[in-house]
Amino acid sequence: MNITTYLTEEEIANAATAEIIEAVRRNPKTVLGLSTGNSPMRVYEMLIQDHKTNGTSYKDVITFNLDEYVGLDGASEQSYRYFMDKFLFKHIDIEPTNTHVPSGIGNLTENCESYEKLIKAVGGIDIQLIGIGTNGHIAFNEPGTPFDSKTHIAVLSIETIAANSKYFESEEAIPKQAVSMGIQSIMDAKRIIMVAFGKSKAKPIAGMVNGPITTALPASILQKHPNVSVLLDKEAASLL
Ligand code: PGA
Repeated sequence: MNITTYLTEEEIANAATAEIIEAVRRNPKTVLGLSTGNSPMRVYEMLIQDHKTNGTSYKDVITFNLDEYVGLDGASEQSYRYFMDKFLFKHIDIEPTNTHVPSGIGNLTENCESYEKLIKAVGGIDIQLIGIGTNGHIAFNEPGTPFDSKTHIAVLSIETIAANSKYFESEEAIPKQAVSMGIQSIMDAKRIIMVAFGKSKAKPIAGMVNGPITTALPASILQKHPNVSVLLDKEAASLL
């Protein structure tokens, strides 16, 4: 695990963005694993800025997002499909059909299976951009999720419901389940870039880096991945 501490979120985003741009320029068919939430926001803004200024093209890039809420379709403003379209895809030249977000509606078991097949069919994820939850989750793989899990229907923990309810009218309104790539699906990515900033991430980051590898802290499995970079600010790194 390669850990770098930066002064600001801006510097973290700069580093992650630079690597993604370099990968896409080197291999226009790069398969990117993407995430939602607060952590990657600035990265997406910077990717858009670079696309507009320097013309980096995403015409042949394929993306897979980590997760989606059960019951929300892309028309719902809280869905992760909506988030990705709004904050990234609409602003770059990516083919909409090359952007994949798990579907949280319809036959969920089939959706999970076909998502895994799709990832495999394109040769796997080259770079997975990821955040960490305050409880150490990665995607919606909450504490207790088996390390060998693939894309599955995940049940949100109380902590995650509390953390994400700010995007909904109330805690009652937030879906309690999600379709989520599993821990194994994430570990299968060739490279993982984790971005984390702020005080609330200090504890899970310390556990992930220095604690035992345990399903009680799902991100701790990343210690076993051969190619992970963790980009932190001082607050997130404060317990290391
Ligand atoms: P955040 O969420 O980026 O909104 O902090 C990260 C996560 O829950 O994985």
